[in-house]
Amino acid sequence: MTDRPELASADRIGPGARLLVTGGAGFIGSELVRQLLARRDGTRVTVLDKLTYAGNRANLAAVEADDEQAARFTFVRGDIADAAVVDPLVAEADAVVNVAAETHVDRSILDPEAFLRTGVIGVHVLLESVRVEAEKAALGERRAVPRFLQVSTDEVYGEVAEGRSVEADAFAPRSPYAAAKAAGELLARAYHVTFGLDVVITRGSNTYGPFQHPEKLIPLFTTNALDGTPLPMYGDGMQIRDWLHVSDHAAGIDFVLRHGTAGEVYNIAGGTELPNRDVIGRLLAATGRDWTLVRTVPDRPGHDRRYAMDGSKLAALGWAPKVAFDHGLPSTVAWYRANADWTASAKSGDWDAYYARQYGDRLAAGRAVDGTA
Ligand code: NAD
Ligand code: TYD
Repeated sequence: MTDRPELASADRIGPGARLLVTGGAGFIGSELVRQLLARRDGTRVTVLDKLTYAGNRANLAAVEADDEQAARFTFVRGDIADAAVVDPLVAEADAVVNVAAETHVDRSILDPEAFLRTGVIGVHVLLESVRVEAEKAALGERRAVPRFLQVSTDEVYGEVAEGRSVEADAFAPRSPYAAAKAAGELLARAYHVTFGLDVVITRGSNTYGPFQHPEKLIPLFTTNALDGTPLPMYGDGMQIRDWLHVSDHAAGIDFVLRHGTAGEVYNIAGGTELPNRDVIGRLLAATGRDWTLVRTVPDRPGHDRRYAMDGSKLAALGWAPKVAFDHGLPSTVAWYRANADWTASAKSGDWDAYYARQYGDRLAAGRAVDGTA
């Protein structure tokens, strides 16, 4: 047995903790930061975010507009793959929550490299930095090893024809995005086993809610429907996803950060499995549109037919999602309706070029859909 420094424990990630949240200007990261600071328990949060096309400081405007929260908040623009930026931030942290990633499957098919840089090299740089802090803790130069939480996804399990994935199931990623996420997890687990780092991993299901970049299904179809432009449904639209509201996803991450056991993985399942056609039907109802806007377009290559996770491991610890899809979806549509400026800014920059590349030929080949079929 080697002498290993004390692992950080939940009580050290309680009130007053210093947290480094990477990717905190994105969809789920900004919700996590808003929740952490709104608790007003002295928690201090530093966000490290590269502000890619998906990151937006406006997502943190509520925090920056509140003097008490702003005093406990620091924003650093930078890349998790840049050790010179990462090391001093990790040195100041009681825990690192790695939310940063390139996240859109379609973009990983068009251009995979950025997924590997952030998802593999970026995770490696963060873990190396935590390892240095562990060495300092072993020498008594800091109190405890920072906890490292890696945010992952149900997509590492690949498509699931029957049943529900449990944490011990084998990985079978099928897109460059999912493969990069699986690699990041494997590295994190290896650093727990080899170097004794205090690593926990969450695997969330498909997430929806306010502040989601409009490239993903629910915000894309909502904003297009509000604008009266076509909705590009891939293939037959019978692919199944398990929907999780962003406030529940962030709360699940926070719960695992405080209560998870080092070395363990936790599914954060939404519990609402629906075929895309059902989701689209509900979106049309909430936006006051009908199926004439929907086109069936050529499918995504390697499109996973179904994701489904078993959430009982986290349920046994006392955590469950709270937001029902029947309430979460219309309230999300209402948010996009009320925040057209936010959408316009998200659909700027490279948006038109991306949209033309991803959907131009598809929409040209698209066909009308019978919503009653
Ligand atoms: P997002 O695309 O909205 O946000 C990602 C954030 O990371 C952005 O702010 C971006 O600027 C930042 N970022 C990207 N590369 C970076 C880098 N190299 N260094 C620093 N910052 C960088 O993504 P999201 O939907 O909020 O997803 C967050 C995490 O949750 C990801 O790890 C994703 O894999 C995981 N996840 C997402 C879903 C989902 O349905 N959205 C489901 C399960 C898991
Ligand atoms: P998406 O939001 O990209 O999430 P993921 O691929 O990570 O599950 O897609 C959700 C589902 O919606 C998926 O089955 C693909 C489908 N989809 C479409 O049919 N059309 C689209 O334009 C998009 C973006 C997704």
